[in-house]
Amino acid sequence: MSSVASQLLAWYDRHRRDLPWRAPPGAANDPYRVWLSEIMLQQTTVATVGPYFHAFLERWPTVEALAAAPLDDVLHAWQGLGYYARARNLHACARAVATEHGGRFPDTEEGLAALPGIGPYTAAAIAAIAFDRKATVVDGNVERVVARLFALETPLPDAKPEIRRLTATLVPEQRAGDFAQGLMDLGATICVPANPKCILCPLTDPCRARAAGFAA
Ligand code: ADE
Repeated sequence: MSSVASQLLAWYDRHRRDLPWRAPPGAANDPYRVWLSEIMLQQTTVATVGPYFHAFLERWPTVEALAAAPLDDVLHAWQGLGYYARARNLHACARAVATEHGGRFPDTEEGLAALPGIGPYTAAAIAAIAFDRKATVVDGNVERVVARLFALETPLPDAKPEIRRLTATLVPEQRAGDFAQGLMDLGATICVPANPKCILCPLTDPCRARAAGFAA
């Protein structure tokens, strides 16, 4: 495992955010929860999603329960999260999993990406977090962390392909889901856009931006 991955995972084990869709350390994540959280988190913050996530799980504890719900009930419960196409796709996806996959989410990126509402990012996130597939998960936070780690000079969005390639070189064989969530948490809490808290960062040694003095 790269030293970046091992340092990040050790940090994640101590400092990971306690988020409602995360299983306790060492326990397997429920694909239904991971999927639901990832769809809700598209264009919405972690803080906003929390209460909706709990309300959905309480009302529809399984993908079959959600599939059996009338679409109007789902749209109503979604009210406030915005982007109703996501809620329609959520319902269509639950139906597809319930009827075409026997109630079990596919466990590969390709299988997941074939479902309604699951694009390449979400497929990678679910494959890594729910199934520990070695997928490369790059969201906005991860882009910033990796751009700094390698001191990339090309600005976004042109740097995206290079960031994806570099991120893929870091993903460990095991715990790819924790690695992805570790990068997300690092970007959300330490490697923040303005005034990053480098003094608390587990990756100061390998960080080239830090060495070059760009990230304060
Ligand atoms: N944003 C999207 N998915 C996330 C996750 N699993 N943990 C933290 N932030 C996220």
